[in-house]
Amino acid sequence: MNSKRIWILTLFPEFFKPLLECGIAGSALRGERNEGTTSFEVNCINIRDFSTTKYKSVDDSPFGGGPGMVMRADILRDALLEGVVKAHGYRGLEDLRVIYTSPRGVVWNNKVAREFGTKALGEDPRDVVFVCGRYEGVDERFLEKYVTEYYSLGDYVLTGGELAVMVMLDSAVRFVPGILGNKLSSQDDSFEDGLLEYPQYTRPRSFEEMEVPAVLLEGNHKKILEWQRAEKEKMTRKHRPDLKS
Ligand code: ADE
Repeated sequence: MNSKRIWILTLFPEFFKPLLECGIAGSALRGERNEGTTSFEVNCINIRDFSTTKYKSVDDSPFGGGPGMVMRADILRDALLEGVVKAHGYRGLEDLRVIYTSPRGVVWNNKVAREFGTKALGEDPRDVVFVCGRYEGVDERFLEKYVTEYYSLGDYVLTGGELAVMVMLDSAVRFVPGILGNKLSSQDDSFEDGLLEYPQYTRPRSFEEMEVPAVLLEGNHKKILEWQRAEKEKMTRKHRPDLKS
């Protein structure tokens, strides 16, 4: 089994508790889904611990003026090099992918998530570092020197990278072989074939005068598959016609 350590440089480690403590992604990222091909360990590093200023500040005002504050390159570098590389036995930056989430990045979607899940969280021998920006941004010199790749959730601005990192981890870990197990295959999920998922039903059979589609109760597997395929088309046409274009 591969083992993958994920480091998150953040000013708000507590943001990540719900992701790491709850649900399937949580147990996978805690290294508890042992049927998988990769065992994970996620560690948050508080950027503030690497501040050298009296009041533990991590940012300063931008040269050239303008609103807000910019995260300092030297403090981020120390968090990366001292807090990750030196403290945890890496040979150097060649052992790590350093990821920054930002509107300038590759836009995240199911295809990118699958690629990231199978490569960055799977077969790539390098471990992964996420850098979560806050405030108005990060000194460009840190990004230029240390960041190897950028991802964006979409064309809007978050107040920090934490939510983006959680979305990336949650949606990518599903593609690590063995993580979802046989029962919870990602193959039937929305987007896998460019279509939305078919609708699902459970008990009771009758709910407010609405019945479960009869084909699902008849036990004809071939007919059920045909129905599911047709429903995927129908759902996509109704809710996301743009996916079909
Ligand atoms: N940080 C700020 N905005 C972001 C976005 N759209 N995607 C990822 N990270 C971000």
